[in-house]
Amino acid sequence: MSVAASLKSALFTVLLCLSIGAHAEPQTLIFAHVVGENTPKGKMAEMFKSMVERRLGDHYRVDIYPNTQLMDDDEAPFAIPEGRIHFAAPALSKFEQFTERLKVYDLPFLFANMGAVDEFQRGPIGQELLTHMAGEGIYGLGYLHNGMKQLTLATPFERPEDMAGQRFRSMQSDVLVRQFERLNAEALPMAFSQVYQALADDVVQGQENTWSNIYSQRFYDHQPYMMVSNHGVLDYMVITPTEFWQSLPEDHRFFFEYAMDMSIKYGNAVALAKNTNDRIEIERMSNVTVMVPTEEQLRRWQQVMEPLWNEYEAIIGKEVIDAARALQSGI
Ligand code: SIN
Repeated sequence: MSVAASLKSALFTVLLCLSIGAHAEPQTLIFAHVVGENTPKGKMAEMFKSMVERRLGDHYRVDIYPNTQLMDDDEAPFAIPEGRIHFAAPALSKFEQFTERLKVYDLPFLFANMGAVDEFQRGPIGQELLTHMAGEGIYGLGYLHNGMKQLTLATPFERPEDMAGQRFRSMQSDVLVRQFERLNAEALPMAFSQVYQALADDVVQGQENTWSNIYSQRFYDHQPYMMVSNHGVLDYMVITPTEFWQSLPEDHRFFFEYAMDMSIKYGNAVALAKNTNDRIEIERMSNVTVMVPTEEQLRRWQQVMEPLWNEYEAIIGKEVIDAARALQSGI
């Protein structure tokens, strides 16, 4: 072959390689969640998408499905190990088919505020809980906050006794079901997407959620009575399939980790701001009464609900509950 012919052939090979590279489709990664775009989780997912696509857009595209468009959060923990989706951030209450230990987050009044939640999660047990389902295909990348939960109801209430006979929507968690049973109320676990209609149809008369979720889902339309109870925590675990995570090239995995870390920090800042602002918005509504209990009143609610800590000690693990309790008393 002449020199000109071999140059031509080499050039052709290079152009072919370039054209294959240019047309290779980026892998589509699916991030499914159940809340609106304008929520801590929605904002976190958007930031993660934009960071990944800006840096690794030749390799990946991140498609976000908010508002239960693809699946609800009862399905997501199953879809992850099956590799049907790549990212989700279900509430920590939604893993009960996989683990007992995360139930620590559902125990009422165990965490005094989000600072205590943060501290627990940064500690050795909180960190270990992130990856303890890895063998079952669920790898935790980080915790994302929403905030403290508040009790809401269709009729006026003040004391634990006022809940008797009412039916509350709860997440799919036996601790939360027991929590309402302690109040002589009934709990009906259901997906987040069904809550608004269930309140509108009086299938349930009450529910518990954060200011941000109460506001963004308009639960106040059918819940004119609310109490600043801060009795529980709504926090999420951002999860990915273990197999997918381990199959990523190391440099990509490092960047994903970095992008997730930044996005979670951003989401947590949004959570703090939204819960503060959304509470103010709700308190301004003329048709909504927000009751702020005195310390004495709140203590009565605690006394009724706290026996669950002992009830679940053997199930969750004493060391897990003790680690959270130590933050309360400062021991
Ligand atoms: C969520 O914030 O992701 C849903 C919480 C709930 O189911 O109440």
